[in-house]
Amino acid sequence: MIRKTKIAGIGYYVPERVVTNKDLEKLMDTSDEWIVTRTGIHERRWVDSGVGTSDLAVKAAEKALNMAKVSAKDIDLIIFATLTSDYNFPGSAVQVQDKMGMNTIGAFDIKAACSAFVYGLSIGDQYIKTGQADNVLVIGAEIQSTGVDISTKGRDMAVLFGDGAGAAVLKPANDTSEILSTHIHSQGKYLKKLWIEIPTSLESPCLTKEMLDDGRQYPQMNGREVFRNAVTRFPEVIKEALDKNNLTIDDIKMFIPHQANLRITQSVAKRLGVGMDMMYSNIEKYGNTTGASIPIALAEAHQEGKIKKDDIVILAAFGAGFTWASAAIRW
Ligand code: ACO
Repeated sequence: MIRKTKIAGIGYYVPERVVTNKDLEKLMDTSDEWIVTRTGIHERRWVDSGVGTSDLAVKAAEKALNMAKVSAKDIDLIIFATLTSDYNFPGSAVQVQDKMGMNTIGAFDIKAACSAFVYGLSIGDQYIKTGQADNVLVIGAEIQSTGVDISTKGRDMAVLFGDGAGAAVLKPANDTSEILSTHIHSQGKYLKKLWIEIPTSLESPCLTKEMLDDGRQYPQMNGREVFRNAVTRFPEVIKEALDKNNLTIDDIKMFIPHQANLRITQSVAKRLGVGMDMMYSNIEKYGNTTGASIPIALAEAHQEGKIKKDDIVILAAFGAGFTWASAAIRW
């Protein structure tokens, strides 16, 4: 009989430094009113200099391991969802292996942007199901604050993002809790609608002063295209998860969408025909933390008692690539 997977532990960590919209007004020509109306974000967390994405990841992972009652030595695979690894290469998964004193296990990063944590769950689920691993650590962590242009020139992107980390420990299911299904998608023709261009392997050298002077190291987004695609793909991939498991909306306790923008979440709720009370949202506190947003939201919803044993939740993601994904989970 094929094994099933459950999420045995989750945890999150956000840096202590709160950066409000008013704080951003001092750095660039923006306003609390513009940011709140367009995005629903009131504040976000930014790291202090010297803290890396792997440091946030370790703090979230420690909580997830604690809840799962497994030690670092028990983990036999690390999947790290991030766009912002500490260094350009290798990925940050190996830093987690080292910092947490784990065995010489497999450890790799995946770069599927805001969908990466759900992609990671999907990969980890396969490892457990096939018996290749017994304790998989899936992390979503990002430091966006050091990669955005915090001057007026970069205000369209800088106000959206925040730093943070979330993690989950996957184990073979031994009761009714299980990952029911995962669904992952991509459409690369939209790559340049949300991307960072450099360093690029298309040019030699891959990074020059001229490129930096032109600001090509900063994220660029066509906000309207992202919005238009997101509000279609979120409901579509949620429906895919429902259909696969013969579920209806009434069976779902809560949807945990990637925290991209409150208006996107509101639009998805409307298209699904559900109230905002069913859509977990914490974007007002943390902004968009990219690959970290879903595990942070899931861990926070659980901590707040909004998800209980046997509740069915659907995680749904959309982001750069474009990529999108969902996971149906019986808690
Ligand atoms: N503060 C003040 N003014 C700003 C800011 C800012 N931070 N950023 C842009 N503006 C100005 C623009 O310069 C422009 O001025 P102009 O009219 O004088 O030219 C004006 O505001 C309107 O700019 P638009 O880009 O047209 O703003 P829009 O109403 O489209 O809102 C937004 C931008 C919020 C990004 C919107 O496109 C959106 O909701 N997109 C969805 C995508 C998204 O949220 N992505 C999140 C990250 S991606 C992901 O996680 C999937």
